[in-house]
Amino acid sequence: MKQTILVTGGTGFIGSHTTVELQQAGYDVVIVDNLSNSNAEVVDGIEQITGIRPAFEQVDCCDKQALEAVFAKYKNINGIIHFAASKAVGESVEKPLLYYRNNTVSLLNLLELMPVYGVKGFIFSSSCTVYGQPSKENLPVTEDAPIQEACSPYGNTKQINEEIIRDYIHSGVNIKSVILRYFNPIGAHPSALIGELPNGVPNNLIPFVTQTAMGIRNELKIFGNDYDTPDGTCIRDYIYVVDLAKAHVKAMQRVLDMDTEPIEYFNVGTGRGVSTYEVVDKFEKATGVKVNWSYAARREGDIEKVWANPDKANNVLGWKAESELEEALSTAWKWQLKLREKGVM
Ligand code: UFG
Repeated sequence: MKQTILVTGGTGFIGSHTTVELQQAGYDVVIVDNLSNSNAEVVDGIEQITGIRPAFEQVDCCDKQALEAVFAKYKNINGIIHFAASKAVGESVEKPLLYYRNNTVSLLNLLELMPVYGVKGFIFSSSCTVYGQPSKENLPVTEDAPIQEACSPYGNTKQINEEIIRDYIHSGVNIKSVILRYFNPIGAHPSALIGELPNGVPNNLIPFVTQTAMGIRNELKIFGNDYDTPDGTCIRDYIYVVDLAKAHVKAMQRVLDMDTEPIEYFNVGTGRGVSTYEVVDKFEKATGVKVNWSYAARREGDIEKVWANPDKANNVLGWKAESELEEALSTAWKWQLKLREKGVM
């Protein structure tokens, strides 16, 4: 019998791409999303790609009663992938309580309901933000690198949630969990039927690049060119969202079908550190489109350089990032062109 996976935040950027990969791997998917930062048309896009319409429930994971009704309706949920969360770093500084409430209450509700409905596997979407700025000896960063004090309430919710999950698993409950620490997800599905749709002015680099290339934004500012890096701009590990989505399928197979430790942590990155300048340069080369940009002051709170050592994910999880950066950037541009064609922006 097919296994059923509950995907919270399943109409969001990473959630929608993961739903596609889960369906293509033979899972049934139930999406739960409150549509606070996405829209229901994403479900159509998923169906167009896979030929299968995922079940969709417009529910806020902080509403325990409504969430419980979902577990009761789809009786045989085997696993959960929990994406639903508020994720804007700057907003979290302005509205910390909103972030602490949204991101922890939704997690608590899910964890409390799991044993009641016999749900065995839990994949949590965490972030390399837990490592802060790793010291020189800890780059590329492994899962054993020290966790550092969070730079924002958003980052702190990732740390707190990891701790909540750890303590719950250690209490002896019959649940297994994989914590995935993402580096910087980018790109869109090659079909351009789903992608990233930021609200308002994008904070993240790639949507700002594609919107500037499209003429929606006048100029991209590269924040800081005096960092201690080869070209002076910050370094990140940009991971193609479809590759990232596939890591979730591996993680789900691991918690549900394999005899493994009850809680495991994996870095999901490419192992390749790329500077902001290189991203813009590669985008122009990959698409043939010029980006109007200039250097600006450093952005407060930015990490200078971080990239993954993905050996554990490669060797233990059996997952590896397959895509080149240029390919991922091309899909981001194709998606931006699609948004223009549809008149979205
Ligand atoms: N950048 C620019 N100009 C822009 C936007 C970004 O130069 O307009 C630079 C940033 O300074 C940074 C790099 O591009 O060096 C990447 O910035 P993003 O905002 O895309 O990503 P971050 O690495 O800063 O943040 C990401 C996630 C956060 C998460 C953080 C740490 O978006 O949610 O990683 O894990 F908290």
